[in-house]
Amino acid sequence: MIDITERVRSNAHTDIYMTAEEAAQLIHPDDIVGVSSFTPCGYPKAVPLALAKRIEKEQFKVQIWAGGSLGDEIDGALSRVHGISRRYLFQSNPELRRQINHGEVAFSDVHVSTFPQSIRENFFGQPDIVLVEAIAITEDGALIPATSIGLTPALIDSCDRIVVEVNVTQPLCLEGMHDVYGLPNPPHRKPIPICHPGDRIGTTTIPCGWDKIIAIVPSAIPDTPFPLKPVDTAAKQMGKLLVDFFRREVKNGRLPQNLLPLQSGVGSVSNAIIGCLAHSEFEHLSIYTEVFQDGMLDLIDAGKTDIVSTGSISTSPQGLKRFYDNIDFYNKHIIIRPMEITNNPEVARRLGSIAMNTAIECDIYGNVNSTHICGTKLMNGLGGAGDFARSAYLTIFCTPSIAKNGDISAIVPMCSHVDHPEHDVDIICTEQGIADLRGLCPIERARTIIENCAHPDYKDMLTDYLDRAIEETGCAHTPHILTEALSWHQRFLDTGTMKK
Ligand code: COA
Repeated sequence: MIDITERVRSNAHTDIYMTAEEAAQLIHPDDIVGVSSFTPCGYPKAVPLALAKRIEKEQFKVQIWAGGSLGDEIDGALSRVHGISRRYLFQSNPELRRQINHGEVAFSDVHVSTFPQSIRENFFGQPDIVLVEAIAITEDGALIPATSIGLTPALIDSCDRIVVEVNVTQPLCLEGMHDVYGLPNPPHRKPIPICHPGDRIGTTTIPCGWDKIIAIVPSAIPDTPFPLKPVDTAAKQMGKLLVDFFRREVKNGRLPQNLLPLQSGVGSVSNAIIGCLAHSEFEHLSIYTEVFQDGMLDLIDAGKTDIVSTGSISTSPQGLKRFYDNIDFYNKHIIIRPMEITNNPEVARRLGSIAMNTAIECDIYGNVNSTHICGTKLMNGLGGAGDFARSAYLTIFCTPSIAKNGDISAIVPMCSHVDHPEHDVDIICTEQGIADLRGLCPIERARTIIENCAHPDYKDMLTDYLDRAIEETGCAHTPHILTEALSWHQRFLDTGTMKK
């Protein structure tokens, strides 16, 4: 029996306590189910697992709306029983990805910062039921979130059937780390008063109210974060190159000594870069980002950063243990915010963010693809990179120069899919070097990217393409041979390598 007495701070609502199986019965076929989370932490687990069992017997589908990737208890369990018809936003589950890429699950991507507004404005419909993981419920029915906030405030604003999983594996010491700020839709907006990543502007709980809570489900299923891939030599090299680049920017007076608030995306490369900063001479760094990865624990431990503003605690399992074991120390340095605030372009522009995200491929003119393999197969999704890319002070995209043991060049003539246009990209970094694209015209950009970032195996092929494109177009502003621009991808699909 899971005891949640000290976590539900009112005795007047024991009539809505129920098991996960009973709560799963509250969900109907074709329902839009909103869930708390931002990356696989702070997401409901018990009810989705019970729902998956029910769907296996009864064979129906629901929509799942979440702020980001989810743990296997939702994306994995529900997709394995073919229970998801539509999924928003970012995902990273192999089976769900397979179903999206076979037309079985409809997936639509928008920027992290705009999705909450779209829900409140009823652009895509509204949730029928919302499942929220909380560490506790206050006397007046406000929810104290767990390791993320994500979409939850907007979901609660838009739905009056809220199921709360009170998870006893999430420590009560998380209380106080959150900063929940409601954002009205236009025309009622005021400036978001964050002028420093450490500014607290909201409440530590999510307003909800007992009238909306239809079920309370005790849960003892811990977050299952993704394991961190080992940091490879390419990622380490990119980290070193960027730290050197920051040194030069400081020396040239283009960045202050403690840099500017850092945003760092998902994945092993981003984590390696943050790790390099932890071992650098930079002090008093600040972080205003959406995912808190293991490298940020290193930064805090090394006394390199005073504050990390994030949307979730998205570490590896070892990182999560480290965080929990020393939570009283870390909670002085971490603020968890809703995704509408972590990724708000207004704040990124005001703070002067340094945005560092990962690309799948970049083209010679600086366009970036971070979502689609060979232009057609979805990898994970857009995530929050675009919110920062356009609004940051400095926008950096990193990628190893080759993939699949060298059969793919990550620098290509033309991106097979564009998530971030050339106009939003300042710096491209591969393990080969850094291309600083600021102020360059397209042909200058192409020469700089090929020279500094392309792998030696592909440099001549890229230069040859560019030279012929310049000649054939009579030196057009952005020279391309359109019949050839995507032939590298086709060659890979046909022969298994981009090499000729
Ligand atoms: N062509 C084909 N496949 C490629 C490729 C390319 N140019 N580049 C990478 N890949 C493949 C890798 O081989 C790997 O495949 P595998 O899973 O079969 O091994 C996969 O893509 C992931 O690459 P990996 O090197 O492991 O990168 P990562 O963990 O650093 O993730 C992204 C890279 C781009 C997929 C990830 O950062 C992402 O989803 N980004 C988009 C969202 C975002 O930017 N969010 C930021 C704010 S939340």
